[in-house]
Amino acid sequence: MDVQPKSMHGIWSGRWTFILAATGSAVGLGNLWKFPYVAGTFGGGAFVLIYLVCILLIGVPVMMAEVLLGRAARKSPINAMDHAVVASESRSAWRYIGWVGIFSALLILSFYAVIAGWAMDYLILTVKGALFEVSGDEAVLLFSNLVSDPLRLILWQSTFLALCFFVVAAGVQKGLGRAITILMPILFILLIVMMLLAVLKGDFFSAWKFLFAFDFASITWRAVLEAMGLAFFTLSIGMGAIMAYGAYMPAEASIGRTVLVVAILDSAVAIIAGLMIFSIVFATPGIEPSAGPGLMFISLPVAFGNMAGGQILGILFFFLVVIAAWSSAISLLEPAVAWLIEEKTISRQRACVILSSLVWTLGIGTVLSFNIAKDIKVAGLTFFDALDFLTANIMLPLSGFAIAIFVGFIMRDDLVRVQMSDLKIKYLAYWLWLLRYLAPIAVLIIFAMGIYDKFSSV
Ligand code: TRP
Repeated sequence: MDVQPKSMHGIWSGRWTFILAATGSAVGLGNLWKFPYVAGTFGGGAFVLIYLVCILLIGVPVMMAEVLLGRAARKSPINAMDHAVVASESRSAWRYIGWVGIFSALLILSFYAVIAGWAMDYLILTVKGALFEVSGDEAVLLFSNLVSDPLRLILWQSTFLALCFFVVAAGVQKGLGRAITILMPILFILLIVMMLLAVLKGDFFSAWKFLFAFDFASITWRAVLEAMGLAFFTLSIGMGAIMAYGAYMPAEASIGRTVLVVAILDSAVAIIAGLMIFSIVFATPGIEPSAGPGLMFISLPVAFGNMAGGQILGILFFFLVVIAAWSSAISLLEPAVAWLIEEKTISRQRACVILSSLVWTLGIGTVLSFNIAKDIKVAGLTFFDALDFLTANIMLPLSGFAIAIFVGFIMRDDLVRVQMSDLKIKYLAYWLWLLRYLAPIAVLIIFAMGIYDKFSSV
């Protein structure tokens, strides 16, 4: 079998395009919206430390394995798994990793587009000056006006999906590659500007103390599960997005070094976003860090509405969120699109139409779970909460586990080594140890304890 096949979809124009694309996928709502509010809910400090440890010891080795699988086959996740399974002469059940991956990507995208839509709505609200001098109660009202209006949510969800559609339909180099090289620099500049403004105007010292005061008493298994799920979610691993992007990675680029750069950039953005948001939150009386999913959409508007220059800050901020969500969402669409093209030999555009319509329809479930169907709950969770929990805390860690075991033990040794040929023997051994033992065992323990903890309290 050919050890390094060619991709029918194209190749990134260089190692840096892969780094930008993978960082674009990684940095998104997970960093800007989810990380701060979950860290706030679970009390800051110790949670943040556990999250970073999960990224380093579980996330990085699994991400390397995922990129490797993609590049070894240069195909969409489902066919990449097929390729590795056939080449390693192992059981075909491992192929389900690819299927589960593509399925969870579409599930995630269906709610991701709705939340990204909120950010677009808030961008317009801020531009129109609707946040001017809002009080806490008015901010709550603004938010509930938005989420209780299904049509308004659907309008934004559709607009956001259309943005993703255009990029993915244009292809790997002209669409994804070009979008990423434009979006990422904008994102970094916005983040730095926002950070400086937050330090100047906010309470940076309290934010720092909150995120880095390690109070281990507040940690439960439930929190550890959440930290691990968030680590998977924020790195975009455990479902094929990174496998799909890895398939377009130039052969000579180093997987280890590249993944490390992406993980460091991603964690840095989450920490910076946390510092920025909590600096603003702590400088505004009456706002709690543990406000939950509304943190970004209720607390921040109050802060923006009542500080000098807040409107500009607000516009920059929501623009940043939309760009970050956009560059992530395209990586949720690409794996399934690549698969449809390979399998059904249909055009990229047709594949995009079919899949975005599917995701759009599924997204209506999330839209309605905030209004008409908000009282329909399973195990105390609405449709949106259940989808979020199922994907981030169950599907991603379990496929991460399967990927670690597959690449660690099952995949043919020379196929693994050829992709990692640039790694020094010592580092290769460290990586294999983390992938074979530490990561899978840690995932299983955290998973079992976290699920037990969550459902024993319902
Ligand atoms: N990592 C993105 C974020 O933090 C979300 C995302 C994009 C994702 N692609 C993914 C999550 C694949 C899991 C799997 O917002």
